[in-house]
Amino acid sequence: MNLKEMVGIEAAGYVKDGMVVGLGTGSTAYYMIEELGRRVKEEQLSIIGVPTSFASKKQAESLGIPVRTIDEVDVVDLTIDGADEISSDYHGIKGGGAALLFEKIVATYSKKVLWIVDESKMVDTLGAFPLPVEVIPYGSQQVFNLFEKKGYQPKLRTAEDGTPVKTDCHNYIIDLHLQSITDPEALAADLDSTVGVVEHGLFLDMVHTIIVGQPDGPAASHVRE
Ligand code: A5P
Repeated sequence: MNLKEMVGIEAAGYVKDGMVVGLGTGSTAYYMIEELGRRVKEEQLSIIGVPTSFASKKQAESLGIPVRTIDEVDVVDLTIDGADEISSDYHGIKGGGAALLFEKIVATYSKKVLWIVDESKMVDTLGAFPLPVEVIPYGSQQVFNLFEKKGYQPKLRTAEDGTPVKTDCHNYIIDLHLQSITDPEALAADLDSTVGVVEHGLFLDMVHTIIVGQPDGPAASHVRE
């Protein structure tokens, strides 16, 4: 069993009967959704899933997990998602899979957020992983130029055929190759106030529990109540 599968299965154990569960996106969340599907089928677990991408929606539906959008539920009890980096003070970078917008919305309206990662994602300071920023296509060249002027080392994310990657909301992703983010709050505030930016992948003070996959087993840390 690989580390992603280990934490995916472990996290699915936090889900209780009757919960509304935010279903994250990515190769780690994949295993969590598979395990929830197994529990729904074999243990008659009764849950509602709120997917954070079309990919996770498709996977959940294929496993027989009933799904709703975030607007069709009152609140999400628990969201389980992967992350690209987690700092020593428990801030995160997400969006490597281009699903950061739905992921942040679902996490924001969740009572609890649980991140599942393998140990390679734990870092002292964020930023070695390029920070994804979702932008509206209209005016995106101007936003790109602004990022360049600010020294943010932007790179438009493209598909294999060279065309811009489009998110589930048909937006573009500009990845900022910052190397080290020493003041995530200031950077988040700057991006939040940039016209044309829809959302960014800095997830600050959002996570309650982290499960880290290590060769000797999963290690859970409770970060906040
Ligand atoms: C999706 O947009 C991301 O936020 C993922 O949650 C993140 O990239 C982690 O993905 P993996 O589990 O595939 O590494």
